[in-house]
Amino acid sequence: CGIVAYIGPKDAAPILLEGLQRLEYRGYDSAGVVVVNKGLKMRKVKGRVADLAAAVPARFKGATGIGHTRWATHGVPSDENAHPHLSNDERIAVVHNGVIENADELRAKLEADGAVFLSETDTEVLAHLIARTVKESDSLDEAVRTALKRVVGTYGIAVIDAERPGEIVVARNGSPIVLGIGEREMFAASDVAALVRYTRQVVHLEDGELAVLKADGFHTFASDARETAKEPLTVDWETANYDTGGYEHYLLKEISEQPDTVARTLRGRLDERFNVAHLGGLNMDAREIRSFRRVKIIGCGSAYYSGQIGAQLIEELARVPADAEPASEFRYRNPVVEPDTLYVAISQSGETYDTLAAVQELKRKGGRVLGIVNTVGSAIARECDGGVYLHAGPEVSVASTKAFTSTAVAFALLALHMGRVRDLSPADGRRICEGLRRLPDQIKEILALEPEIKELARKHASAPSMMFIGRVRGYPVAREGAQKLKEISYVHAEAYPASELKHGPLALIGPEMPTVAIVPDDELLDKNLTALGEIRARGGQVIMVGHRVADPKLAEDCLVVPKNEVELDPILLSIPLQLFAYHAAVALERDVDKPRNLAKSVTVE
Ligand code: G6P
Repeated sequence: CGIVAYIGPKDAAPILLEGLQRLEYRGYDSAGVVVVNKGLKMRKVKGRVADLAAAVPARFKGATGIGHTRWATHGVPSDENAHPHLSNDERIAVVHNGVIENADELRAKLEADGAVFLSETDTEVLAHLIARTVKESDSLDEAVRTALKRVVGTYGIAVIDAERPGEIVVARNGSPIVLGIGEREMFAASDVAALVRYTRQVVHLEDGELAVLKADGFHTFASDARETAKEPLTVDWETANYDTGGYEHYLLKEISEQPDTVARTLRGRLDERFNVAHLGGLNMDAREIRSFRRVKIIGCGSAYYSGQIGAQLIEELARVPADAEPASEFRYRNPVVEPDTLYVAISQSGETYDTLAAVQELKRKGGRVLGIVNTVGSAIARECDGGVYLHAGPEVSVASTKAFTSTAVAFALLALHMGRVRDLSPADGRRICEGLRRLPDQIKEILALEPEIKELARKHASAPSMMFIGRVRGYPVAREGAQKLKEISYVHAEAYPASELKHGPLALIGPEMPTVAIVPDDELLDKNLTALGEIRARGGQVIMVGHRVADPKLAEDCLVVPKNEVELDPILLSIPLQLFAYHAAVALERDVDKPRNLAKSVTVE
């Protein structure tokens, strides 16, 4: 979900709508805005921000306002359940991201006290609560603070009071809030994306913090009402990153940016004199790096799959046992946290709640955690002991592409760094450095295959289901390929290790289920080709993605991509699968950048 707030000399509504549009990738089943103008004026609708903009009249005046775009957790998407939510006297308005865990209990108490609920949301509880505390408080922030004491759960909120048009109160606990500082105007949002058009000066709130915004500035407070001192941070993301820049979709733009984004992840980090990687943000010296006996990688969705590529890179280059696990599973199974294990958390947004909670659990138990994160200053980045920023620029489309690739590249750097302070030879170090340097140009070559990939995608888009197979290094590539197809085209896809086909899924194979096979030129080539023969013998169609032209007896379609070092090939092999999923989704007329039921950044459990 997304939050935007504005206070200043201008009309709030157009600024809020513009900000919401930029946040829409975070949730988009309903949207709403409210401004103060002799009382509260509100519009909210089920649907997209464009539907909301159409519902906001031209004369919707008011220089203080808050807005929201929603991804339903409590209650179905509907006009009533859309945010903002008002108190019954229409004095208080609240927008909220997160989940209030004791909402049912609070609701029962508030109803007994006469509150009439108009929605099924947990958020509405906050509006009624604050409407009560505001009557006994000297300030809106005191009222919000008192109300929040009764709340159990996670929140990022923005609150306005019709009787105090000159201020907005925002608060954070587990769900991000960032303040934007303008010229005699202030902004707040759940994501810097909503602010970049207006200001580069931002302040991230910490959990438990609350801020009061006025047109001429802001104050931040800890939960005990003590004022906290915050230094504004300058963000360097260009507004252009949030436009489709001539492409039909953000997804295609972000896929096409990869030669650049990979180069940015590498910039300044390769040292060809000693064949090592410089990762200044790790905050760990060589001695500490050498002391780890194991690496555990956690992340969700595509971040988890890139972590699987990362685990293999670390095992191969640093010879340290490594594995990846979904952060959402890890955090709930009381994992054994060991002092000689290096934990690595991956997140594009830096805000995924499951990943953040896993990091917090690790820290609580003394684990050493690095973050591989795209969003500078995000919650996960702040929580970790050190890490590697991707510098891939904002990723807007819900399905991850450039962040996925850059994460794999960051792991190659980390593996090279760990390897070179352990037992990776200078020659192998050089091989990897040179391979990494070749990546941007090779990605360009892959992007040039787009017409061919588009044709393949159109040919297979009508398949009811597809199988993706790969072996060892190719397996995470297959998993991510299947994930991309599922997410954006809604075609069912299953990923399997090619080696496991004969132990079950071969029974599914037939003319109705094409297989995308990841077949790099590595020591497993012959074994992979055998698996293709098994599929063809059962009448299955095969699209082979690899480094050589396939024997037509083994694969009827084939995509040949440039070859790099075996350890780095998975990075390149992932890219044609992004384009394949993209063109399948376009052929099926899907909403490519905003697939149904999904959100870019899942800041709820
Ligand atoms: C959501 C998105 C996925 C993403 C995952 C992790 O589920 O839809 O595309 O991979 O979150 O996001 P993160 O920001 O932590 O990388």
